[in-house]
Amino acid sequence: MKNIKSLMFWIFILSIFSLNLWCNGEAESEAAPMKSGEKAALYSTIQTFVGKWWNGSDLYPDPCGWTPIEGVSCDLFDGYWYVTELSIGSLHENSLNCAEYADFSPHLFALSHLKSLLFFNCFTALRHRPIPIPSRSWGALGASLESLEFRSNPGLTGRIPPSLGELKSLKSMVLVENGLSGELHPFIGNLKELERLNLAGNSFVGQIPHSLGGLKQLLILDLSRNLLSGPLTLSFGGMVPLLKLDLSYNKLHGNIPESLGNLKNLTLLDLSNNRLRGGITKSLENLEFLQELVLSNNPIGGGLMELQWERMTSLAALELSNASLTGGIPESMARLRGLRFLGLNNNMLTGEIPSNLASLPNVGAMYLHGNNLTGELEFSALFYGKMGRRFGAWDNPNLCYRVHATYMPKGVKQCQKDVMRFLKPLVSLGSPLLVSSCVRNLVFVMFIVDIVI
Ligand SMILES: *[C@@H]1O[C@H](CO)[C@@H](O)[C@H](O)[C@H]1NC(C)=O
Ligand SMILES: *[C@@H]1O[C@H](CO)[C@@H](O)[C@H](O)[C@H]1NC(C)=O
Ligand SMILES: *[C@@H]1O[C@H](CO)[C@@H](O)[C@H](O)[C@H]1NC(C)=O
Ligand SMILES: *[C@@H]1O[C@H](CO)[C@@H](O)[C@H](O)[C@H]1NC(C)=O
Repeated sequence: MKNIKSLMFWIFILSIFSLNLWCNGEAESEAAPMKSGEKAALYSTIQTFVGKWWNGSDLYPDPCGWTPIEGVSCDLFDGYWYVTELSIGSLHENSLNCAEYADFSPHLFALSHLKSLLFFNCFTALRHRPIPIPSRSWGALGASLESLEFRSNPGLTGRIPPSLGELKSLKSMVLVENGLSGELHPFIGNLKELERLNLAGNSFVGQIPHSLGGLKQLLILDLSRNLLSGPLTLSFGGMVPLLKLDLSYNKLHGNIPESLGNLKNLTLLDLSNNRLRGGITKSLENLEFLQELVLSNNPIGGGLMELQWERMTSLAALELSNASLTGGIPESMARLRGLRFLGLNNNMLTGEIPSNLASLPNVGAMYLHGNNLTGELEFSALFYGKMGRRFGAWDNPNLCYRVHATYMPKGVKQCQKDVMRFLKPLVSLGSPLLVSSCVRNLVFVMFIVDIVI
């Protein structure tokens, strides 16, 4: 077995060596072996984006050989060079920049071995004719195209054409920050190989198609910053490999689906800036690899007490601000040892702030302002010093802090009343002299304790 393997290895090395010789020989005599049809398709594809002045045969007579084009990669198939990657737009200094009147050439679809197609900042001329994604011919790239990316093309408008559903090999579809609109067609659910689907920053409307629930290879789903509406009725149950789910900045309403709790590998869940209600779904506590949970700016309602927060052992950022939350802050949050950001501000939280929150070893920002939290803030001067302005507790009218020498949390009053109330029974018992020295001693003791801590 070993011998066969090493024999194969040497045959492989030899063949690479001879291939190299042969290619170099070609290059010297004429050009790398590239079928004239492939070459012509490449030239005219690029020319329709870049402008008539661009004469490929003049500038780049051997595009896969000794005159490489920035943004074009090639590969050998059956002894001939084919274009496998094409990137157009201002990515690098020498990139192929799009002309004002850039358009799609039908020759694009003749590049039969194309694996990756990228347009960045290409269709920007909003003043001119808006450019749609070609509605036909994508099937010609169905066997090869794995990555389709349109990024930052505000002049690229219209719907996603259903013929993109013919790209059966597609693993990554990234259509980010374009001018695309309309409803999301259910065909996207037929792209079974998809690992990444990112449609963020367009103007898509309507419901998220149920068919997306059938994308069982999906690792990243980002539909953020659109106008999607309706309840989240798709079944997330089958999308178990999912790592990142971002549906923020849409108009989604209804509940947070229970089935999200099945996405065991999820590291990011961002549903912020929607119209979700019905409380924080308890099943989310099953997400033990979740690092970021962002549900802010939703009228979610309900409380925090129902969840066993300590089960989300990977949580680093918990952003639940402006989510209509009521009830208390659970002690179990203080067991999220990796927590770095805690945002509970602008809710209707009540009760006392668990003092053990200050013992979170990694916390770097904690916002509790704009609630109705009560009682005494029992954090140490060291804690306030460490957090500075990244600790927010203002706008809690019934909250006060214990007096410290140097640090005071912004917008929180001192706990004098509490001290007085504590002393009232003493007032009725003893002389005024006793009381005043007692107050001074108490304050002093507190001061000393804080210095020591
Ligand atoms: C490119 O230039 C060559 C001559 O250098 C000319 O024959 C050819 O027609 C030009 N092609 C285009 C598309 O302008
Ligand atoms: C979850 O992640 C682990 C580790 O990366 C991996 O082995 C496992 O296959 C993943 N589960 C799913 C359902 O993809
Ligand atoms: C708070 O959330 C609501 C949605 O529940 C939103 O309309 C509002 O703009 C948010 N407020 C702020 C200050 O973001
Ligand atoms: C805040 O809580 C107190 C009781 O602790 C209650 O009397 C008061 O009405 C609450 N304020 C608001 C704005 O909900």
